[in-house]
Amino acid sequence: MDSFLIEGGTTLRGEVQISGSKNAVLPIMAATLLTAETCVIRHVPDLSDVRFMCQILTSLGAEVEFDGSTLKVRAANITGTGDYDLIRKMRGSICILGPLLARLRKATVSLPGGCVIGTRPIDLHLKGLRTLGTQIRIEAGYVHAEAPDLSGSLVFLGGRAGPTVLGTANILMAATLAEGVTVIESAACEPEVVDLADFLNAMGARIQGAGSPTITVTGVRELRGVEHEVIPDRIEAGTFAVAAAASGGEVTLRGARPDHLGAVLDKLQEAGVRITRRAGALTIGAASNLKPVDITTMPYSGFPTDMQAQLMALMCQAPGTSIITERIFESRFMHAAELMRLGADIGIEGPSAIVKGGAPLSGAEVMASDLRASAALVIAGMAASGTTQVHRVYHLDRGYERMEVKLEALGARIQRVPGE
Ligand code: EPZ
Repeated sequence: MDSFLIEGGTTLRGEVQISGSKNAVLPIMAATLLTAETCVIRHVPDLSDVRFMCQILTSLGAEVEFDGSTLKVRAANITGTGDYDLIRKMRGSICILGPLLARLRKATVSLPGGCVIGTRPIDLHLKGLRTLGTQIRIEAGYVHAEAPDLSGSLVFLGGRAGPTVLGTANILMAATLAEGVTVIESAACEPEVVDLADFLNAMGARIQGAGSPTITVTGVRELRGVEHEVIPDRIEAGTFAVAAAASGGEVTLRGARPDHLGAVLDKLQEAGVRITRRAGALTIGAASNLKPVDITTMPYSGFPTDMQAQLMALMCQAPGTSIITERIFESRFMHAAELMRLGADIGIEGPSAIVKGGAPLSGAEVMASDLRASAALVIAGMAASGTTQVHRVYHLDRGYERMEVKLEALGARIQRVPGE
């Protein structure tokens, strides 16, 4: 497994191109199953999760071509049974369930695995599909679903932690070819849901209200192939913004969408970070004196849980106390223990992490645990004095396109050490 070797204490300067959004492209790739015609998707990030999803679509019978940026899918002759091992390994693949049911009226997919950040249930996905007339049977780790009479209905998708992003995607896609009208209440409002709805409407679907908590879908008979460009990845942009602030430098995020980053930019400004918005770009300058801030993760447009670990790494440098409360996932503080190996002072009190920032960090060997926790360790390693080695960076490769290459171009001293 590869690791990153980082010499800390460098200042990041320059411009970085933001890649296409992982969390937008995965459901959009699933949506190509809704038509027998060819879909062309551009600005696709070259990530292991994307290549995984390509394998899943191929295992279902679709013809898939990916050149590292543009993806072509033709799901002319597909089956409703996905490869157990592939689907179990990547949670995002659960969003093939809705389109398979819409297209074939039946599907068998494995229950997605949980991961270090939580159990990741799919009860809301299944509740929504049942409301649309789907018979669901769980057996031997598989979801067996049949929906001969898939029909529109009122679907409430609010759960204990608020809406579900991929649950909204699944119901949205199933509803596009269902009989009649579906209204989704307590739908997720993330920009990735809006991008999916734009893709589906371009295919001929009739969706209104995406981006709001109430989405209305009028079922149609069939959908056609389209061309689409994926929105930029707001979490990658936020991650590089925090890295720039933590390094004391100044970085321009080319292609970032400030309108997708409201809560993140608000918190960075509160911490004293300098933010300049110019056409098509966002420039992040380090604070003259970084201030502690309190964060609570919320559904969009609140502060995103996928930026929580990165902000914690930054707050380790802000003199004073920051309280970071995680309200979306039940155990998303795996990075805290590893940050403490770099000298951070963090106490966990239930859903909150109490960060006493300001002490200088010093390099150490640390272990990545999940995608965003790994990003936090890279940010902290670059800010620490001395050498930091981040092990198991395959976690990073799932969601960041050539992260070490982009950081090195900004002046970081970082290299990938091939697997031990
Ligand atoms: C999506 O996951 C993202 N992944 C996650 O990004 C992101 O953290 C998450 O949304 C929340 O914003 C992709 O889009 C591929 P949820 P998703 O369903 O849809 C509970 C990253 O780092 N819940 O919105 O799986 C769930 O346990 C990843 O890029 C139920 O209770 O998340 C969680 O507490 C990590 N029942 C909360 O809802 C359900 O049926 C939000 O989960 C579904 C979810």
